[in-house]
Amino acid sequence: MIVRVVVRWLDERLGTNAGARYLLAKIYPDHWSFYLGEFALYFFLTLVGTGIWLTFAFDDSAKGAYPSVLALADRAHPIGYVIRQMHHWSALCFIAAILVHLGRIFFTGAFRRPRELNWIVGVGMLVLASLTGFTGYSLPNDNLSGTGLRIAESVALSVPLIGGWTAAVLNGDDYFPGPLLMTHLYTLHVYYLPIAIAVLLSLHLGMVVYQKHTQFVRDPKHVVGRRFWPDYALRTVAVFGATGAALAALAALFEINPIETYGPYYPWIATNGAVPDWYAAFLEGALRLGPATELHVFGHPIPPVFWPGVVLPSFTLGFLVLWPFIEKKLTGDRAAHEILETPTQSPLRLGVGAALIFEGVLLTLAAADDQTAATLHLRLEGLVWLYRILFVVGPIAVGFLAARIGSEMRARIHESAAYPYDATTLVRNEAGGFDEEKPQPT
Ligand code: HEM
Repeated sequence: MIVRVVVRWLDERLGTNAGARYLLAKIYPDHWSFYLGEFALYFFLTLVGTGIWLTFAFDDSAKGAYPSVLALADRAHPIGYVIRQMHHWSALCFIAAILVHLGRIFFTGAFRRPRELNWIVGVGMLVLASLTGFTGYSLPNDNLSGTGLRIAESVALSVPLIGGWTAAVLNGDDYFPGPLLMTHLYTLHVYYLPIAIAVLLSLHLGMVVYQKHTQFVRDPKHVVGRRFWPDYALRTVAVFGATGAALAALAALFEINPIETYGPYYPWIATNGAVPDWYAAFLEGALRLGPATELHVFGHPIPPVFWPGVVLPSFTLGFLVLWPFIEKKLTGDRAAHEILETPTQSPLRLGVGAALIFEGVLLTLAAADDQTAATLHLRLEGLVWLYRILFVVGPIAVGFLAARIGSEMRARIHESAAYPYDATTLVRNEAGGFDEEKPQPT
């Protein structure tokens, strides 16, 4: 009754019914891989909720930050500790979900025309999410995150022409940690970066609704899946509930970032084994593998960290942003695609994706080279050289192997004339129920 009155009241003033009817009737694909983006969405919402809670307890001064985060475990904040744990776990899962979602978009070719722009917006969100994660990780000002910030500052300083200036602006002076560093990290972490993600996310989801989802079926005119109301709405609420429950369980059972054991940050106490959160570990690995040679260009020194710390990630991101266009160039396929492919239908993409994943995993492993060498009783120098060789040879070998397997599988599927993706889909029938439908091989 109240709902009806509110809906009518809004419609009379804003004409909202037509839009709401369109959105409620929109059909969402039923395949599990379409839920991956939703997981990312719900991790983000949990981050915002728990993050707002934390702002009431956090002190953003250099002296006050560490004790204020430690105090979350006190009786004064009955649920403070678990909220902080949930916040950190959601950040780790958020970036994992983004990467897995990116993988599904990549390997199924969902980024192809007309969705290239949404792919670029997606890469933008990945960068912003990583920066938000890193600035948040640095806020407690503990010994581990302080060491990470110091490394990040050295990487920033290595950038020719603008590096020194950028570091000075962030620090608020020429030394580290500068008087304004904490305040700048806090403002970036709490306002600018999350707001930028929210703006891009609105664009991203708006584009998904406007362009419609891609599908795993043969006939592009035949939209299959579940209507938003009530089927899909209930499912998505269940996904939100499940992510919340998983995060609460992680937070309660597995302690993450135990700053009480690291102690506060003092610039003169840096631990050699310091490693960042998992999504930034590849950068640490790259720094450990990079050659220790300093180049001089027009008399200006370019420190060794510039290549692994700035050039490598920028090159990788540039490659990701441009991939839809690179693929278009390599395959000559400029057509619009509403129908998805399975990973083996494009051996080129499979090879490139496998090579990139190999590189990411290798660099992440390299971030723990000292622990690996100590545990396996290996010589650290030998291990570093092994990683360096694998860094060059590995992606080529893995990429070729994956592409080869892909083309074999594609040929076999072609021979058997079976449609590679044989899912059952549900189509709304006239009686309002659902009919099962198997895509027909053509
Ligand atoms: C904050 C992070 C992100 C969130 C919350 C998010 C959320 C979503 C959701 C809910 C969908 C619709 C369902 C689906 O297709 O999975 C979607 C679709 C899409 N996303 Fe994302 N996404 C994020 C990051 C990314 C990234 C990093 C990329 C790629 C670089 C990307 C590219 C796309 C594309 C191209 C589509 C349309 C896919 C289709 O229609 O099949 N997204 N996203």
